[in-house]
Amino acid sequence: METLNNYLSKYKGYVFAKGETTAEYIDSLQHFEIRDSDVFLVTYPKSGTIWTQNIINLICEDATDKTQFPNNLEKMPWLEYREGRADYSLRSSPRFFATHLTPRLMPPGLRGKKGKIVYVVRNPKDNAVSYYHFSKVWAKLEKYKSFENFLEQYLTGNVGGSSWFDHIQEWHSEGDQYNILFLSYEDMVMDLRTAVEKICKFLGKNLDDVAITHVVEKATFKNMKKDPKANYEFIPRDLLLKPQFMRKGTIGDWKNTFTVAQNEMFDQIFKERMKDFPLNFIWDLDN
Ligand code: A3P
Repeated sequence: METLNNYLSKYKGYVFAKGETTAEYIDSLQHFEIRDSDVFLVTYPKSGTIWTQNIINLICEDATDKTQFPNNLEKMPWLEYREGRADYSLRSSPRFFATHLTPRLMPPGLRGKKGKIVYVVRNPKDNAVSYYHFSKVWAKLEKYKSFENFLEQYLTGNVGGSSWFDHIQEWHSEGDQYNILFLSYEDMVMDLRTAVEKICKFLGKNLDDVAITHVVEKATFKNMKKDPKANYEFIPRDLLLKPQFMRKGTIGDWKNTFTVAQNEMFDQIFKERMKDFPLNFIWDLDN
């Protein structure tokens, strides 16, 4: 891996948090054998990963989960960070993984529509603000002097996960090769029940109304915040300086952070980078 600075390294064009994984391990994913029943949650960082992870886990929960998996991270581990867990090939089916990787680094067996991918995208203004706040509480991220400093790095893709623009574009343009469900964070905020129903249908889970209501209830921001299995409070305080994976959980918070000039600059870059992109984004609760 090429070291970019004290916090980041780069491998095959993708920016990783430094020291969290190795080139050998990332290369080994090229031989990762996909099963039809595998489920991958793919996001750019700070797009509602833990939220969607919780929803998928609730939908697919079975009795053994309680004994096998103390928290959602154990049930749905990170694909790119092996973190001393047992060999994934030894896991029983269905297996669940979360990842921020781009298509090129993913197990090639997923192409040809084997396995299932749920992709969640979030509007990049809220995404950037969420990422900035997260950088203050995640010990291993760079501590920026200001949002302006962070935004510069974010816009050039000089952050863990690389460029937001590349991430969504690569996944979307290659989407037809995968069995993939695209969801947006904003749609989930505005109508969680419909999002849960879509995920159930995609995963082939036939939950009745009562079970769906249960998932929706458990996945609200308020309830997730106090659910020890769902939020990541178990992460030691020297790594997660403040337990703040659940921060605001809303749409349009960027307006409290972006200056008018930053917003104009952002809009300009967004227009250029996303000019041929077919999906619309929701930027606040009024539009
Ligand atoms: P904010 O920082 O804007 O509050 P990730 O899990 O990918 O790191 O994403 C974190 C973002 O998802 C945070 O955004 C967090 O508050 C939000 N989030 C987590 N659970 C949520 C929920 N149940 N409802 C709405 N947003 C949620």
